[in-house]
Amino acid sequence: MYFTKGFLLLHTLLAFLIPQFDTLQDTLTISKPIRDGDRLVSMRETFALGFFSPGESTNRYVGIWFYKAPEQPVVWVANRDNPITDHSGVLSIDLHRNLVLYGEDKKQPIWSTNIITKSNNKTTLAQLNQLGNLVLFIKETTEVLWQSFDNPTDTFLPSMKLGLDRKTASSPELFLYKGNILWWRSGHWNGIGWSGIPTLSSNDSVMNFNLFYNHYETSTIWGLRYPGVSLFSRLVVNGSGSIQRSVSAISDQEWDILGTLPLDRCDNYGKCGAFGMCQVQNGTEFECTCLPGFEPRSPSEWSARNATSGCVKKHGRASVCKSGEEFVKVEHVKLPDSSFARVDEKLSLKECERRCLENCSCTAYGGVDAKEEVGCMRWYGELMDTRVLDGGQNLYVRVDAFELDHFKGFFANKRRLAIMVVALVVTSLLIFLCAKCLIKRKRKGKRLSTNSSLPNFEDSPSRSEFDGSKSNSNFPVFDLKTIIAATDNFSAANELGKGGFGSVYKGLLQNRMEIAVKRLSKYSGQGVEQFKNEVSLIAKLQHRNLVRILGCCIQAEEKMLIYEYLPNKSLDSFIFDETKRSCLDWGKRFEIICGIARGILYLHQDSRLRIIHRDLKASNILLDNTLNPKISDFGMARIVRGDQIEVNTNRVVGTYGYMSPEYAMQGIFSIKSDVYSFGVLLLEIIVGKKNGTHYHNGPSAYLIEHVWDLWREGNVMEIVDALLGETYPANEVLKCIQIGLLCVQEHASDRPTMLTVVFMLGNDTPLPSPKQPAFISTNISTSKGANSINEMTITKIDGR
Ligand SMILES: *[C@@H]1O[C@H](CO)[C@@H](O)[C@H](O)[C@H]1NC(C)=O
Ligand SMILES: *[C@@H]1O[C@H](CO)[C@@H](O)[C@H](O)[C@H]1NC(C)=O
Ligand SMILES: *[C@@H]1O[C@H](CO)[C@@H](O)[C@H](O)[C@H]1NC(C)=O
Ligand SMILES: *[C@@H]1O[C@H](CO)[C@@H](O)[C@H](O)[C@H]1NC(C)=O
Ligand SMILES: *[C@@H]1O[C@H](CO)[C@@H](O)[C@H](O)[C@H]1NC(C)=O
Ligand SMILES: *[C@@H]1O[C@H](CO)[C@@H](O)[C@H](O)[C@H]1NC(C)=O
Repeated sequence: MYFTKGFLLLHTLLAFLIPQFDTLQDTLTISKPIRDGDRLVSMRETFALGFFSPGESTNRYVGIWFYKAPEQPVVWVANRDNPITDHSGVLSIDLHRNLVLYGEDKKQPIWSTNIITKSNNKTTLAQLNQLGNLVLFIKETTEVLWQSFDNPTDTFLPSMKLGLDRKTASSPELFLYKGNILWWRSGHWNGIGWSGIPTLSSNDSVMNFNLFYNHYETSTIWGLRYPGVSLFSRLVVNGSGSIQRSVSAISDQEWDILGTLPLDRCDNYGKCGAFGMCQVQNGTEFECTCLPGFEPRSPSEWSARNATSGCVKKHGRASVCKSGEEFVKVEHVKLPDSSFARVDEKLSLKECERRCLENCSCTAYGGVDAKEEVGCMRWYGELMDTRVLDGGQNLYVRVDAFELDHFKGFFANKRRLAIMVVALVVTSLLIFLCAKCLIKRKRKGKRLSTNSSLPNFEDSPSRSEFDGSKSNSNFPVFDLKTIIAATDNFSAANELGKGGFGSVYKGLLQNRMEIAVKRLSKYSGQGVEQFKNEVSLIAKLQHRNLVRILGCCIQAEEKMLIYEYLPNKSLDSFIFDETKRSCLDWGKRFEIICGIARGILYLHQDSRLRIIHRDLKASNILLDNTLNPKISDFGMARIVRGDQIEVNTNRVVGTYGYMSPEYAMQGIFSIKSDVYSFGVLLLEIIVGKKNGTHYHNGPSAYLIEHVWDLWREGNVMEIVDALLGETYPANEVLKCIQIGLLCVQEHASDRPTMLTVVFMLGNDTPLPSPKQPAFISTNISTSKGANSINEMTITKIDGR
């Protein structure tokens, strides 16, 4: 579709209830119309087309919705303005090859594609494809007659193309209108993204925009940065003029909002008028100022905080035409509306300045790319919608000689002060450095190199056309060749562990950096889902107690996750090994307990998502070289809504011994089931023995029961690992045991949250008395069926 400016139509976001049916097909033919109650389902069952009623309304609409995503949001509506009031609707292809929608009145269509084609005797079909595009085409020639992607409603889907008319677009920008009023603009394209959305251009780990130029069109398209990852994603404009980008994984319960536009009040188009500039204030100050050399057009309106009339050249000022004028740099801004700017993509900034200066109506100039390395934009006339923006560019505003004096004087004074400050800092730095040299010479200690620079990586050849991420992504895609070289072609000697999904290998990159490669076996379907889950989750998480992911590798059949390599392997190799356990004194064990607790707390409430790990256990806690614990393995993790207390699943996954009773037996999991697993882990660290991993009455199957019995007898300190000797602070150990028992209480509601656990660990406060724990090892035969047992051990890896 081609718009000179603007593309997104506003309408109220509708939440829809979709009826369920069982026909699965994606094509509409002349002989097979769709009646209210039928539907088309795209390949892979990503999208469906049919009749629906939004919310509580009884009106019927024809639309396309996400079929398997949470809430099944509608992405396109045919008859948005002409609902059908009953269930008589029929969508069909008529003799003129148009898609037509009839209601009760069979003579006059309610909606039609309204195309004009030559009549011939070829077959016309309408197919709902897996991108969510309804395409009307001629079967024999595959000539496309019409498509829903060319007639969008409120949703911009991946692979959809928004076009701009090349002839009028000096520098393409996206515009959002509210009615007829310009509401928001994206900023110009700076080579890697839209300059007014800096977070989206360079740093977004999920979405990726691209701009295409050719002789007759300019169009923008977006997609997922990692096409191998199966995430639903969409951009929606809602009724208040807000654009939301959101994603959801199949296993998610809801859509995760990645960003909202406009960003803030300063993002509203023309907030400070022509030649004005907007800067968000944290206090009560007014956001608007004028650009250098300008003053408010209407001081009275301005004082009433209305800046829409903008700014004018300061009163009584010198000419800016060949009268000694120059340019003043305004830093970190979203450059003004470039609709009428002149763009020369190859000019240097210096040449840009020269050309601007030479034409008296040129008011400002700036670079096209953020680093001012290539490209020149020049404005002739009004400078509209300039704002201060983190990650913004420099704008060079033409000012008269008088103003220049003012700025130069200002900077001259500033410079004098700056020189003094620098001199002072340098002196003190020298003194400091000398002192340090002296100390260093005496203590010639060894220091570990902390060089953690990322390896050079190449994009995977399988990346789709949207993936222009190159090296500016913070989530690199490794090349398969690099990984093969690093792991010596996945040699057995480099294998660190094995699980149901595949193996983990140690690798060494060319820059000497050590990595751990989790390679999914090609045939494990379940593993692939876990892989995608893991990528989509971990890409969003960062915490010192979570294992750091360096990137992934998706190439043909191969799917791999690349992690930092942690030389000390996992916690179970320490706490269940007599020799190694003896190096863990109480102080170290307490630090590990606190680190794990903080990591889980981050997952539960401090990260942007609420994540339930579902498989916390000693073998999933890795230790770095300072024995700092890092939670790993998010293959089972689930994102839940912030307000969601518990979730029910038909597939119980996890590891016996660490599973809370309600999860193991009823499939109900919540943050409290993670708390339970943490409690088991905590007690294992103190005792140095494993809780029962199978449900037979093995020797250690009753660890928790044993602790509980001793607790009630008042002899609980007997359980403490003998290898700790006598040197530990008994009060702190006792407190930890009590916290452990509180975490494994039978009823989830009795267990503390991780926030409380972290607080209790860090403070000396009176603790409640624990109630009887759940002894799930004795009840396990009532679990959801024996066939789920295989699933429960698939994450076993013995270190990396
Ligand atoms: C289509 O129509 C043309 C003439 O209009 C005829 O020659 C041709 O045989 C027809 N083809 C089919 C498949 O009916
Ligand atoms: C991109 O991410 C880095 C590190 O996470 C951060 O320092 C930087 O400010 C981000 N840039 C933008 C434009 O958000
Ligand atoms: C649109 O989205 C914004 C931001 O997410 C929200 O504040 C507003 O209430 C939404 N408006 C409608 C009509 O849904
Ligand atoms: C604005 O923020 C700065 C830094 O965060 C702070 O020092 C200042 O007091 C704030 N001003 C107001 C008016 O809140
Ligand atoms: C701001 O001033 C303009 C005239 O310059 C006027 O049309 C507009 O209504 C005013 N806005 C408000 C909110 O008062
Ligand atoms: C200055 O630039 C404007 C806009 O490009 C153009 O219309 C005008 O002719 C130019 N003036 C001179 C003297 O080159």
